[in-house]
Amino acid sequence: MTSSLATVAYIGAAILFILSLGGLSNPETSRRGNFYGMVGMALAVIATIVGPRVASAGIAWIIGALVIGGGIGLYAAKTVKMTQMPELVALMHSLVGLAACLVGFASYVDTSIQYTGAEKVIHEVEIYVGILIGAVTFSGSLIAFGKLNGKIGGKPLLLPARHWLNLIALLVVIWFGAEFVRAASVADGMTPLIVMTVIALLFGIHMVMAIGGADMPVVVSMLNSYSGWAAAATGFMLSNDLLIVTGALVGSSGAILSYIMCNAMNRNFISVIAGGFGSGGGAPAASGAAAEPQGEVVPVGAAETAEMLREAKSVIIVPGYGMAVAQAQHTVYEITKTLREKGVNVRFAIHPVAGRMPGHMNVLLAEAKVPYDIVMEMDEINEDFPDADVAMVIGANDIVNPAAQDDPASPIAGMPVLEVWKARTSIVMKRSMASGYAGVDNPLFYKDNNRMLFGDAKKMLDEVLTALRG
Ligand code: TAP
Repeated sequence: MTSSLATVAYIGAAILFILSLGGLSNPETSRRGNFYGMVGMALAVIATIVGPRVASAGIAWIIGALVIGGGIGLYAAKTVKMTQMPELVALMHSLVGLAACLVGFASYVDTSIQYTGAEKVIHEVEIYVGILIGAVTFSGSLIAFGKLNGKIGGKPLLLPARHWLNLIALLVVIWFGAEFVRAASVADGMTPLIVMTVIALLFGIHMVMAIGGADMPVVVSMLNSYSGWAAAATGFMLSNDLLIVTGALVGSSGAILSYIMCNAMNRNFISVIAGGFGSGGGAPAASGAAAEPQGEVVPVGAAETAEMLREAKSVIIVPGYGMAVAQAQHTVYEITKTLREKGVNVRFAIHPVAGRMPGHMNVLLAEAKVPYDIVMEMDEINEDFPDADVAMVIGANDIVNPAAQDDPASPIAGMPVLEVWKARTSIVMKRSMASGYAGVDNPLFYKDNNRMLFGDAKKMLDEVLTALRG
């Protein structure tokens, strides 16, 4: 393939990636968005392999790597549970960071192209910055992976004078950067490069260790953004325009997502990065006064729940992490269909951080074929709760916690929540009185108009469905 044909293919792939991102912003177009992304990536890979910069002797190596990497990816995608998705994503970000580091070292030791003057400085700065971002992304993502799967504790590790440590590390990195660019030979430049890489790896560990369990979603999306910038830096090192464009797309969309999630959790982005927030921990049912049940609850059975639903004119269903764990989405849709056939107006209210990853609930409801037009975002539906007869909460907890509005001392104070308690009756479906991800008690459970339907969401919903049909 000639160089101009490869450029045309790269432009086509870049356009497809932009269309893909546009499609993924809406559930109705997300399948198409995914498809554009796959075609764009296939085009990019093929154009690179048969393009002018790969010697024919290298093609066999690339295909071998593709088969091994693709096989591992296919296996991971097939076996990973939906609830483990954030861990997998964190692990994948670490690979992007590692790739940026390896490409950086490889292009530094590669002397086949001789740079001189300003070009040499620019090339070395690209390498230095690329390895810096890559190393932070690599070690930070590995720690995020460990925290998400519980191998590393959720509590933030706050070293004394940590901000000073970070500042000193930054100054040392800048100083070694100057040394690196001044180095007369590859051998001379290797020491500053290795020292900076070690500092960047330690910084990545320190940065994510300082962030509490409750802020991990923001961290994962922030590392997603870093992995994009690492890819863009790799693009600069390899003079590959498509990698630069794609990296910038991932970097900026990850940054926008982090910002949206910070808003949804009422966190200040800079504070999350600076660490120490989210110290509520990641364990459900955290110990301490905030997690202790604080009153009496009114339990109901499946038959009574079915009765309330049947008599309602308007029902709002709030799914949460427990629906994902119980895999209850199909039964939820069966109940929805049955109620809609009886003339009940049923809608879904989706909180931006419901579940354990962005769009978690939308994916599950789409899988169960729930029509998109009855799935509402929090802002669209929150003011409709006072008109709802029943708000049915399925395995959700933090996202319907009124303490976020009423208790300034609560660890989740200020987080926007779905106001289910304003419905005539709210029914919370969960197995016990255990707290949710943020580890705080939920005053919703003790409200006069709230009922608790205890049990596994799938099992209880099956019973409700049988009662409804009966
Ligand atoms: P949570 O607050 O975590 O509450 C989920 C509830 O589901 C738990 O209280 C649990 O109570 C119940 N549950 C678990 N398994 C169940 C089952 N099989 N059947 C019925 N109930 C079950 O979930 P949420 O309301 O969706 O809020 C999400 C939380 O996760 C927020 O704090 C958010 O910040 C955080 N987070 C979000 C993300 C993203 S990006 N979405 C990522 C990481 C963390 P029982 O144990 O009593 O059953």
